[in-house]
Amino acid sequence: MEKNWIHQGKNLFMNVYKQKDLVIDHGHGVYLWDMNGNKYLDFVSGVAVNSLGYKDKEWMDSIVEQLNKIHHCSNIYWNKPSIELAKALVSKSEFEKVFFVNSGTEAVEAAIKLSRKYGLKDGKNEIIAMKNSFHGRTLGALSVTGQGKYQNSFKPLIPNIKFGEFNDFESVKKLVNKNTCAIIVEPIQGEGGIHVATKEFLQDLRELCTKEDIVLIYDEVQCGIGRTGYLFAYEYFNICPDIICMAKGLGGGFPIGAIMAKEKIASAFTPGDHGCTFGGNPLATSAGKVVIEKLSREDMLNIIRENSKLLYDELEKLKKDNDLISSIRGLGYMLGVEFNIPVGGIIDNCKDKGLLLVGAGEKVIRIVPPLIIEKEHIYEGIGILKDVLGGMKDDG
Ligand SMILES: Cc1ncc(COP(=O)(O)O)c(C=O)c1O
Repeated sequence: MEKNWIHQGKNLFMNVYKQKDLVIDHGHGVYLWDMNGNKYLDFVSGVAVNSLGYKDKEWMDSIVEQLNKIHHCSNIYWNKPSIELAKALVSKSEFEKVFFVNSGTEAVEAAIKLSRKYGLKDGKNEIIAMKNSFHGRTLGALSVTGQGKYQNSFKPLIPNIKFGEFNDFESVKKLVNKNTCAIIVEPIQGEGGIHVATKEFLQDLRELCTKEDIVLIYDEVQCGIGRTGYLFAYEYFNICPDIICMAKGLGGGFPIGAIMAKEKIASAFTPGDHGCTFGGNPLATSAGKVVIEKLSREDMLNIIRENSKLLYDELEKLKKDNDLISSIRGLGYMLGVEFNIPVGGIIDNCKDKGLLLVGAGEKVIRIVPPLIIEKEHIYEGIGILKDVLGGMKDDG
C-alpha cells in the first residue's frame, strides 16, 4: 500500500527532496506511524517544527475553535488571534513590533527588507552574513545563505552581500564599511551542521552594530521558540538583536513565521513597503498562541533544559564508546552528532528500528525532537542508536 503512494509521489512531485521510503500516516505524542502501521519515535519533529508533538489537546482545541469562527481574513482588517499572539510575543521579549509571515524564508526576506529600508536614510544597503549559514530558499534569503551548494545554480543573486567567518569577529569587522546596513547570524547554525555561536562573538557583533548603527538580525527560525530551553535563543546568550526571525516551531506545525523588531527599526516600514496575504492568518496565530503560552512557562522550560542535558550526556557516553563519533555539539534540543563517516546509512538503519533522525550535512546527525519528549523517550532513542552503531562495529 505504502509503495503505491510513494510511486505516485515520485511521478507527481518535482524532484527536490530525496524522500525516505516512508509515508507518514498519523502521530500521537512523540510517536509517528506509517501507512503500514509501523511506529517510530520522532527525533525530527518535522525538522524542529512540531514542538508540542502530535495531537496536543489545547493546540488542537484552539485551532478548531477558531475554525468555527473564521479561517482567514485579509490584513486590510484586524483579527483577534493575531493581535493576541503579537501581544504575547512582544510581552515576553525585548521587541516592540511584529510582522507575520508563513515561513522561515519569508521571515528572512522581511528582515532584509526592513534593515535595507532602515539603512536607506544613510544610503546604506550592504549586508554581512556568515559562511556556512542557511537562511532559506527564496532569492533574498538565498543571497545571505553562505553555502555554495544552495546558491550556485541560481546566480545572479541580490548584490551587496558579503560573508564573514562564523565565530570570528575580526573577519566580520573587516567587511564593515559606511554602506553596511545589517549583519545576519544564526545563534546556532542548523543546516550548516549545528554550530553554536560563542557569547563573545555575539557580544562583539552587538557592540559593533550599536556603534555603527547597523541592524543586527538573529535568524532564530530553527533554534528559537523553546528549543534552547529559553523561549527565544537570544535569552540564552543574553544578547539581544535588533530584529529576530522566527518560524518553524512558532506554530507547532501550523505554517507561520514572524519577525520582531525594536520600534526604532520597525518604524522604517510604512504602508506599502511590505505585505503578506496569509501573514497573521487567524488559524495560524491561534495555533501560535498556544505554543507561546506553553513554551514560555518556566516549569516547561526547566524540563526542556533538564531533559535535553540528559540527552546531551547520553550522547557523550555513546561517543566515548564509539570511534565513529567525532563530536557532540549544540544546545537544548538542537543537537548534532558528528561522525567520521557519512551518516545516511545510520539514519536509514535507525528508521528501520523505529527511530527517525535527520542529517545536517554529510556527516552530522541532527537531533531536534518535539520539546515534550520525556526521559524514557531519550533512553529509548539512545538505545536504538546504540544498537545500530553496535551492529556496524560487528560488521567491521
Ligand atoms: C535558520 C533557518 N532560517 C531559515 C530557514 C528557512 O525556513 P523555511 O523552510 O520555513 O522557509 C531555515 C530552514 O531550515 C532555517 O533553518
